[in-house]
Amino acid sequence: MRIELTVNGILRSVDVDPMTRLLDILRDDLRLTGTKEGCGEGECGACSVVMNGKVVTSCLVPAMQVGGSEILTIEGIGTLEAPSELQVIFNEEGAIHCGFCTPGMIVASHDLLEKNPDPDLSAIRRELSGNICRCTGYEKIYNAVIRAAKESYGRKPKPRPKPAAGGRPSFTSEESSRYFSPATLDEALEILKRNPGTPILAGATDIVVDLRGGRATDERAMDVFGLPELHKIYKGDDGFIHIGSCATNDELEGDPLINEFLPALAHCAGRCGGPAVQNRATVGGNLCTASGAGDLPVVLLVLDAYALLASAEGEERVRTEDFVIQYRRTAIGPDQLVKEILIPIPAAGSKQVFFKRGSRKALTLSRASLAAYLELDGNKVRRLRLAAGSMSPIPRRLKETEAALIGETLDAPFIHRAARLASEEISPRRQAAYRKNITGNLTRRFFEETVLGGGGF
Ligand SMILES: Cc1cc2nc3c(=O)[nH]c(=O)nc-3n(C[C@H](O)[C@H](O)[C@H](O)COP(=O)(O)OP(=O)(O)OC[C@H]3O[C@@H](n4cnc5c(N)ncnc54)[C@H](O)[C@@H]3O)c2cc1C
Ligand code: FES
Ligand code: FES
Repeated sequence: MRIELTVNGILRSVDVDPMTRLLDILRDDLRLTGTKEGCGEGECGACSVVMNGKVVTSCLVPAMQVGGSEILTIEGIGTLEAPSELQVIFNEEGAIHCGFCTPGMIVASHDLLEKNPDPDLSAIRRELSGNICRCTGYEKIYNAVIRAAKESYGRKPKPRPKPAAGGRPSFTSEESSRYFSPATLDEALEILKRNPGTPILAGATDIVVDLRGGRATDERAMDVFGLPELHKIYKGDDGFIHIGSCATNDELEGDPLINEFLPALAHCAGRCGGPAVQNRATVGGNLCTASGAGDLPVVLLVLDAYALLASAEGEERVRTEDFVIQYRRTAIGPDQLVKEILIPIPAAGSKQVFFKRGSRKALTLSRASLAAYLELDGNKVRRLRLAAGSMSPIPRRLKETEAALIGETLDAPFIHRAARLASEEISPRRQAAYRKNITGNLTRRFFEETVLGGGGF
């Protein structure tokens, strides 16, 4: 496969296999070795680059998604001979600890300051949450970014090489029967009709990790991440919020409509991995991975969402709970893809929430999560949906708890009972006592803080 991409302002052309990682293109083909490989699974940030204006981990980006892109690497920010002010400040502040992590930290810091020249400490912490330092700590790194902001690094004009042209990949004739890069959704559906079961590539943050673990194949793939139709978010006149399946966590978190009507989803999206993962991870990919550890499906369950499946023959709606059948298995047919997620507009005055407990925010898995949706009639429960994540092979509703509480009066005994029922209903296979306890606590917190405004009884 031949692709053209702009790297640090220069048009480059490479011949590589379609599933070669961007990281390998940069290091092996273009000899830009400033970008490092640490974990190879999106967790350490050592391989961070800016792709089309967003930080990404280049170890998770397959070559067939890179054609026509504009990439900025550490070498495009500054070199040993001509370092940028940011690199000089990192050096002077003692923020350069080891050669592996520093390029990624500087790329992420550069990106932050270009977009937000005056970040506060929490914005800096957040931006660097996907960049791990295990040796020395973050204090000096944060100080360097704070100083760079004070010295107006983000506001100063920088030499900006003009992006060059470049197009979609041109596959060899042998590859073109196995790899596809459609320009429109209709074209994608026709490809699936002719090549049923072709693995779909969205943000690839699960697939590339699965490839390393031998759980996925790189023999065939169809890229849909670049299809504009699949990134649309809009309020339909059918009473649903429509979310394109390739909307990324970053897009969900920042979208005004999602924040207004589906705040639990916006909050959840902002808690799935560090910024470089959020810039690529999609809602459709999270749902289709069909894992109990996926966070967004927990929220989709309580918001009563549907997956809108499309094929060349037409479209059908499937409820989230019928879509995820079992661990890593969904109801999708071989000629279908998820086009949109449809979420009914929540009732006025309803409450929704997502809580997550886990290890580091930027790492993959929740240890426990809970989502809730509630409608009240006075102080009586009219509608209640609760779902727990990371407890079972797939996320699941707590239907017995819901049934026992609907129609009841929301008071102190109610909350006590709700917490007990929720913790009894889940049956985690590991860390059972901890997870049962935390589910009860999160249920209590939902009713006390979210519904009663924090005061409790
Ligand atoms: C460092 C790191 C941290 C992470 N943290 C979290 C986290 O905190 N919470 C969390 O839930 N997840 C997390 N993840 C997992 C991952 O980012 C999410 O599951 C993500 O949303 C997957 O989306 P994607 O677009 O990258 O999927 P992909 O890898 O592109 O695809 C995943 C699966 O879905 C299928 N698929 C994708 N889109 C479609 C479609 N439109 N139609 C049909 N099939 C489709 C693919 O064929 C594949 O089987 C993390 C991953 C990494 C690497
Ligand atoms: S090498 Fe660790 S995130 Fe890419
Ligand atoms: S900077 Fe690399 S481990 Fe600390």
